[in-house]
Amino acid sequence: MTPAETAVTPRKNSDVRNRMAIALDVDDLVEAARIAREVRPWFGVAKVGLELFSAAGPDAVLELVDTGYRVFLDLKLHDIPTTVRRTAQVIAAIDASYVTMHAAGGRAMLRAGVEGLAHGAAGAGVVTPVALAVTVLTSDDDVPPHVLGKRVKAALDAGCAGIVCASSDVREAKQLAPRLVTVVPGIRPAGASRHDQARASTPQAALAAGADVLVIGRAVTAAADRAKAASELVGSLALERRQRPEDAAVTPR
Ligand code: C5P
Repeated sequence: MTPAETAVTPRKNSDVRNRMAIALDVDDLVEAARIAREVRPWFGVAKVGLELFSAAGPDAVLELVDTGYRVFLDLKLHDIPTTVRRTAQVIAAIDASYVTMHAAGGRAMLRAGVEGLAHGAAGAGVVTPVALAVTVLTSDDDVPPHVLGKRVKAALDAGCAGIVCASSDVREAKQLAPRLVTVVPGIRPAGASRHDQARASTPQAALAAGADVLVIGRAVTAAADRAKAASELVGSLALERRQRPEDAAVTPR
């Protein structure tokens, strides 16, 4: 299996940490790296979003890769196809494992992004990042029902390897496109604050729906004791998933 295939088939990876992404939504790389070190036993993927990338740029990706993380660069590209293609070409050389584009940009834009990533990675001699299409934001509960299917189909037709969607959208998305990896943000333990996430879900519900990768931010990063929060959250999954032999490796090393 190539590194790209490994990245897009997290279910087959024995290290469950590759299904757990920590969202490092801070404006300072020193702070991001501190959080990343604290939660490393439970997370294999570090998500760099608009805030951290605006503050630290590609250095954020490089530093987290050095720490042993796969990096999920969540810039949600959304522009005309030419701009997205050229930007994706630049991004591909940064060494992120996952890159997001907004599916609202349409099939041609997504395809341009996929091609740009492949072209940029080939030029830089690195593995092509996995292209993820963001379908409907987990904070948005005011989108007509037909939109999800349209965006999943656009992602599939454009050659994206996966999508980002709410837990409540996973089943429909998997029916439409079983081979797409589903990445699910808006994860909260039962009873925790939802903040601005209108369509939040517990990690157990997201996994039961078929989510491949869980994105966890404030439920861990805003906790007074982040290691404890991470341990409890992932520990609760280990308990539930021990029922299935193929999931025996769910507990972090
Ligand atoms: O703190 P919280 O767990 O809500 O963080 C969720 C993360 O996932 C944020 O970094 C946000 O940008 C990202 N995200 C999301 N919904 C999407 C796509 C990405 O919440 N549809």
